[in-house]
Formats: sequence, structure tokens, C-alpha cells
Amino acid sequence: MTVELPNDPARQDVLDAVPTFWSNPLYKPGATADNSLPISSEEVMTAQRNWKRLAPLLERCFPELAETGGAIRSELVELKALRQAVGYGGNEYGRIFIKADSALPVAGSIKARGGVYEVFLFAEQLAKLRGILADGDPITRLADVDARALFSDHTVAVGSTGNLGLSVGIAARALGFKATVHMSSDAKRWKVERLIRLGVDVIQHEADYTTAVEQARVAAEGDPSIYFVDDEQSRHLFFGYSVAALELAEQLRSLSINVDPAHPLFLYLPCGIGGAPGGVTYGAKVVFGDSVHCFFVEPVQSPCALVHLMSGSEELVSVYDVGLTNRTEADGMAVARMSGFVARVMKNMLAGVFTVSDDDLFRWVLHAHENQNIRLEPSAAAGMAGPHFVLKHPVGREFVAKEGLEGHMTEATHIVWTTGGSFVPQEQFEDFLGQAKALT
Ligand SMILES: Cc1ncc(COP(=O)(O)O)c(C=O)c1O
Repeated sequence: MTVELPNDPARQDVLDAVPTFWSNPLYKPGATADNSLPISSEEVMTAQRNWKRLAPLLERCFPELAETGGAIRSELVELKALRQAVGYGGNEYGRIFIKADSALPVAGSIKARGGVYEVFLFAEQLAKLRGILADGDPITRLADVDARALFSDHTVAVGSTGNLGLSVGIAARALGFKATVHMSSDAKRWKVERLIRLGVDVIQHEADYTTAVEQARVAAEGDPSIYFVDDEQSRHLFFGYSVAALELAEQLRSLSINVDPAHPLFLYLPCGIGGAPGGVTYGAKVVFGDSVHCFFVEPVQSPCALVHLMSGSEELVSVYDVGLTNRTEADGMAVARMSGFVARVMKNMLAGVFTVSDDDLFRWVLHAHENQNIRLEPSAAAGMAGPHFVLKHPVGREFVAKEGLEGHMTEATHIVWTTGGSFVPQEQFEDFLGQAKALT
């Protein structure tokens, strides 16, 4: 199918695969209160309670969580030396932080918030159904021999560009499930190897992400022993991610950083299919209301959320439909078609989307390493362009004016959500740095 994008200041840049900034014309205040949404804000609180209930089991399965009592949390790190290096020296940028999901325990990426959550919830549900876990039993029962025996008769399956597969595979194997991960052709070799070492069955497709998910879904259909984590539709993944906003609120409070109309908050979230950034956006809107403005960021050849949301179409529009290739080194964002579920929720809630080149991703990986000793993979560095677009791009300036934020930008807080990288093996990381140095 070929799709004509509507007239918009960002249209030609999108088609030419040039970095650009799109402001969502349907963005409106109070969007979480829309009764026609398929979800409700209480589900964020339910997810937080679920995480707390699962925490002792998580701690039992993953000793690295002992320090946090089973919570999977990331640090909020203020940009210091890195600010100058990436051109954010001036005080017009307010305060800039990294939300370091790149170093999340268990899975080394934001996908720990979704994949681990869904697998552990499924384990609890299955154990209850089979009479292994009764009301009032400690959740750590699920690490006992009989629970593991039950889980070993079941397979958890997922389609992935890499990091979701890692988080689901790690979580499933920790509980004793069998696991199958259908990888798209973009998946990096080291992610595949790590899963194989864990005893995960990895099926590598010579096809893109949408196809890998579809084939995983078909393989799971009709086999009741397979539980399929559906990245295109899963509400569990979405709400698992959403709880990150409550964590962020607590961190900002502890730094005495206000979020209100005079102190706006900006989140910059790397987007693949949309589940992780969509879940965080929804959570943030529930927690901070209209004082937070969330932007997705995508590679210039894979802006699936941008083209779909810009098109205004009811049917999902893919990047191929507008002549783009979906080729990028940012494997986590190499997705041609966004989730329909997330698209529906983001319609009036997402402030906009910007795009970045692969070369810039490598440069930011190098800067983050050299200036602040943070290890990122290319997908994870994408949000770094956010403050620049909002403050310097003509469409960004218009956005700031339209939202009545002109007098408040020095009081703003910008959060660059870095979404993965701490598990990248040294050799692969040096290769990223080498590629970045070759560009400078
Ligand atoms: C490092 C990284 N960042 C961002 C994303 C985007 O998440 P989603 O596909 O849920 O939009 C991914 C997805 O795998 C990822 O691996």
C-alpha cells in the first residue's frame, strides 16, 4: 500500500529521511480522562501493587535485586560534563537528566519493566489456576520445586528485535519455564548468543519485526502450553512500563524538583513498536497531568509512530507505505509498524515525535561514555536530541509558545530516557565506539 502523508511542516523531512520534529496537532489537555480510551488510570496503580507483591519472588530469583528488596529501578542522573559535549551548556535548557534504564537490573534495558512483569504475572496466575498458590501463600512459593515443575511444562514465547526477547527469556528461564524467542533480522548476535546460553530456543527470522511477531503468534496459536507475550497488544507490558512514572515522580520529589505549569517536565522516549514509550507516557500523564510533555524519538528510516500518527489514518500505516526502508543500526527501534493499541492511546496524549540519524546515535553513545561513563546502545541514546528540538527547532518553538511555556523554559526539567546498553559485551561496545570515532 502507498500512503500520502498530509500537509505538515515535517512531512518532506520525514519522506527524505532527514531528522525532524513533528508536533501532534491532536495533542490536548486532560487526555487521560477520555472515557473512550480502552484503559484507565487505576490500572497504573494496580500494576504498582502487582510489582510490590511480586518483589519478594523477584528478589529470590535475581540476587542482584537484594539491595532494592526486589524492585527493578533505575537511577536518575543529572547531565553534567555531558551537557557541554552535546551542546546543552546554556541555562535556557533548564535541568537535564538521564533516566538510566540502560542500567536496569535483570535485563539491562527498559524491557525489564515490561517483559519481566508479564512473565511473573503469568506465573502467578498459572500457579493459582493449578492450585499451587493459594490466597495468603507467600509469593516465593513460585520458586519451589513443584512450581518449577509446573512451569517447565509451559513455554513462554515472544517476538523481538532483541531486548524484549532478552527480558522475557531471562524471566521465563529464572522461573523454570521453557522459552522461545522469535528474533527479527535486526537482532544483534550477542543478544541471540546470550539467550542461547540461558537455554532459550531462539528462532531467527530473515524478516522484519512485524513478521517475526506474526510468526510467533501463529506458532503459539492452538497450543495451550504456549503463553505468547504479544508486543503489539499486551496490556501487561504497557502497564509494567507505566509504573516507571511513579518511580520518576518519587525521584523528582526527593530532589525537590517541582512539576507544575511553571515548571514543565519533558520526557524523550525511544520508540520501537510503542509499548515501552507509550506505557511510560501514559503513566507520566496520570502522575503529572498536563505539566508533562512526552515525545517519542525514532530513527529517520523507521519512524513508525510518526508516520502513523501524522497520517491520521484509522488503519495502521507502516514506514514502507511512505517509501522508507526501516533500515537502522538502532535494532530496538527497527520497527516498521507501531502497535494499534498504543496508537489509539497516544492519539491525543503524545506531544510529538522527532527523528534522529544513526550517525548521531553513535556520536551520543561515545559522548555518554567519555563524559559521564554511561554505557548505551545506539537505540538508547536517541532521546539526547530532545532538548535541542524543543528549544531550537521552529516547530519546537511553536510548540513551546502554543503551550504557554515561553517564560518557563529555564525552570523546565528534561528527561532523556536512556533505554538499554549495560549488557552490551565489551567487544561490541568497543565496536560502537570505533564507529562513532570514525565519524568525528
Ligand atoms: C533499547 C531500546 N529502546 C527502546 C525500545 C522501544 O520499545 P518499544 O518497542 O516498546 O517501543 C526498545 C525495544 O526493543 C529497545 O530495545
